[in-house]
Amino acid sequence: MSEPLLEVRDLHKSFELEGQKIEVLRGIHLTLNEGDRVAVIGSSGAGKSTLLHLLGALDVPTSGSLKFKGRELSSLKPSELARFRSQSIGFMFQFHHLLPEFSALENVMMPALIARRSKADARKEALQWIEEVGLSHRMNHRPGELSGGEQQRIALARALMGKPDLLLADEPTGNLDSKTGEEIHQLFETLYERMGTALLVVTHNASLAARMPRCVTMRDGLLYEDEAR
Ligand SMILES: Nc1ncnc2c1ncn2[C@@H]1O[C@H](COP(=O)(O)OP(=O)(O)OP(=O)(O)O)[C@@H](O)[C@H]1O
Ligand SMILES: [Mg+2]
Repeated sequence: MSEPLLEVRDLHKSFELEGQKIEVLRGIHLTLNEGDRVAVIGSSGAGKSTLLHLLGALDVPTSGSLKFKGRELSSLKPSELARFRSQSIGFMFQFHHLLPEFSALENVMMPALIARRSKADARKEALQWIEEVGLSHRMNHRPGELSGGEQQRIALARALMGKPDLLLADEPTGNLDSKTGEEIHQLFETLYERMGTALLVVTHNASLAARMPRCVTMRDGLLYEDEAR
């Protein structure tokens, strides 16, 4: 068996707020192999977004080990970490975080431009992903001129820049009606079938979670494998 894509061991995260320590993650263990698709459920405030931010190297753990393809993230140099964020991981945020003053196309190109790829190259890849999510006819619209579902599809196209091994999606369908949410999950499935992209998706939607091959629950700062399936 090849090395896991992601190996999380005894991961802790606490926040200090007004002199008080808030322990959000209290020893998380999680192994993801290439192409795994996992739903994360858990009540509001359980620490789901906190965990995703650590996995995407958007924040650092208080303690514990986080390995991606065998490499400890905390040992990476800043340039390697930047490459990890732009090439290995795609991130869809809980609130889409598209930049309102830029077009859909420019938003999708943004991570590549930040990673200092040429404009022509960024544009070429962005156009491919926009087509993949079925929005070529909307690429010159600004986020405010797109529906909620379209905005999330653009956020997905942006997350796919660099063809990541792992897509982290934080409630990508939280603000959408069930039919539009269904369409986003359909896109995840198509991407998985075409490219084998691993997916870790936080969702409150039980029927979407049930469609994923594996489901884990966050409770009291720990992660529990859903054994009943
Ligand atoms: N920067 C921070 N400083 C202090 N406390 C924080 C910080 N970020 C998160 N928390 C706390 O950590 C806990 C977990 O937050 P988190 O956003 O991970 O929850 P969640 O499971 O994603 O919830 P939701 O389902 O509502 O999105 C909350 O109690 C929150 O108040
Ligand atoms: Mg959250």
